[in-house]
Amino acid sequence: MAVCHLLLAAAAAALVSAQGPSATAAGCTAKSFAIPSWLIQDVKHAGADMSFSIANRATNYTATLACQGKTAGWNACVVQGAAPEDEPLQASVLVSETSTAFFVNQTWTCKDREKALTFTADGNATAALTYTSPLLIRGSLTSPVAITPTYADGATGHGSPGCSARSAKPSWVLSSLQYTDEPADGVTATPFRNFNVIVTNQANGYQASCMPGGGFAGVGDVSRLTCAGYEFQAFNVGRYPISTEASYDAVTSTFSLNQTWFCDDVDAAKPVQITSHATLPIPLTCTTTPSPTSPNLTNKYCTSTPSTLPLSSLSSFTTPLSAYSLTDPLPSSRGDGCTLTSIFSPHWQFSDFEIVQGEVRFEVILTAQDRGFQYPIPIYQGEGVKGREGWWECVVGADGGNGLPLWPNKCVIGWEKGKGVLGLEAEWECRDLDGGHPVKFTGVTTTTVDSPITCETVDGESRCATEDPGYTWTAGIDNVKWGV
Ligand SMILES: *[C@@H]1O[C@H](CO)[C@@H](O)[C@H](O)[C@H]1NC(C)=O
Ligand SMILES: *[C@@H]1O[C@H](CO)[C@@H](O)[C@H](O)[C@H]1NC(C)=O
Ligand SMILES: *[C@@H]1O[C@H](CO)[C@@H](O)[C@H](O)[C@H]1NC(C)=O
Ligand SMILES: *[C@@H]1O[C@H](CO)[C@@H](O)[C@H](O)[C@H]1NC(C)=O
Ligand SMILES: *[C@@H]1O[C@H](CO)[C@@H](O)[C@H](O)[C@H]1NC(C)=O
Repeated sequence: MAVCHLLLAAAAAALVSAQGPSATAAGCTAKSFAIPSWLIQDVKHAGADMSFSIANRATNYTATLACQGKTAGWNACVVQGAAPEDEPLQASVLVSETSTAFFVNQTWTCKDREKALTFTADGNATAALTYTSPLLIRGSLTSPVAITPTYADGATGHGSPGCSARSAKPSWVLSSLQYTDEPADGVTATPFRNFNVIVTNQANGYQASCMPGGGFAGVGDVSRLTCAGYEFQAFNVGRYPISTEASYDAVTSTFSLNQTWFCDDVDAAKPVQITSHATLPIPLTCTTTPSPTSPNLTNKYCTSTPSTLPLSSLSSFTTPLSAYSLTDPLPSSRGDGCTLTSIFSPHWQFSDFEIVQGEVRFEVILTAQDRGFQYPIPIYQGEGVKGREGWWECVVGADGGNGLPLWPNKCVIGWEKGKGVLGLEAEWECRDLDGGHPVKFTGVTTTTVDSPITCETVDGESRCATEDPGYTWTAGIDNVKWGV
């Protein structure tokens, strides 16, 4: 358990540097792909008629709608005031004795990226007649691609009953506490210090493991501990991961903690962020041994007594967040993934180009900014394409089955020997926005292997390759079609 947590903390240190907002993440286009959705508010009933306001969360478009509940079944609603020409909106309601069902369908255009895109999404939701919070309608895009975005799970325990109430007086339990001090003269041996603890937040059950700052490379600086937990195994936490900062003062044996976490157990429309600070003198029980490298110095190996310690908050403050934001997907902080790259800037990156026994092979990957853990895939020349001289089926190499591929699942290769012209007609699928419904793309690339190629024959096998074995190049994908 402890070892596992230590590895997580090291992974956390490596990942933290990769985060940070990107310029386009808050834009209309990114939001339209990530959160095509609406908030319904100010629902008013007057006899059979009703009215409400609607806000599109991707575009900030707002309108007031009125509906005449004359007939049983769905009743259409009409936008009050000037109807939006550029964002046509259809809404209808189905009112029963206890609840109201809302249906929305809207089309809008975003112009904040390389090219303008028109989106159409629809969705529905039902609320009790007495419901007064903003109601969230999560939409499915029907255009430009048909996807239902994957929403996040949210930070650990955000919805667990009592999260908000227990966060009024935050407390933690410290466990698996270990302190090691191995001093040294710094000449014949390097001094070593370590402090590990597992911190469990009593409001949400979140466990973080803390170790000296900077991961394994920085072992020794106990005054800056790196803490991490579940979020680095779950890649679906969303916009608001729990964050923990801690330190240990070896002179006074005092542990300090700052933690930020989230609750929306009372009402998902009213999430809150809690930031809290605590310190605790740690009662240590130590064994000592003379340092094997400097007999004048003493090594200390300590644990806490008792082995688990309660920790109470010294100060905390609570900040409201926008409605339903805890389960919103993370904006593309690492840049465009598979789908947006394929739409706005489709390029393949080629590498490892070779001709073995007259057959072309190379590696390829889509040039997404957010590549996750993907690496280029090898493509080999297979059977000739019937009726197309100079074109062959691709044999796509093994991918190790690691998640969200950024390479063709099917393709044909063209090779004009004398000219060094390489053609790639590819089909690929993006699952980064909606794991269950891949968006299918096709596109055509014509590129030149623009690096000298040298050949050698070893044991009767001829092998030609780019002179620089590290030569990589990118080429645009033309005629890209999606949803095909
Ligand atoms: C919507 O409003 C928010 C908050 O005012 C702002 O940050 C965001 O840029 C707006 N989005 C669009 C697409 O206009
Ligand atoms: C949504 O509206 C578009 C036109 O704006 C229409 O083509 C589409 O059929 C509508 N979808 C639903 C589910 O009503
Ligand atoms: C949305 O509409 C579908 C089809 O009519 C229905 O099955 C589903 O229950 C509705 N969802 C909500 C939340 O009202
Ligand atoms: C906690 O936050 C306070 C105030 O921002 C800061 O002074 C302190 O250094 C922080 N402690 C840790 C352990 O990060
Ligand atoms: C240990 O301490 C003694 C006396 O203070 C000193 O003479 C000796 O050099 C020290 N040895 C080491 C290895 O530091």
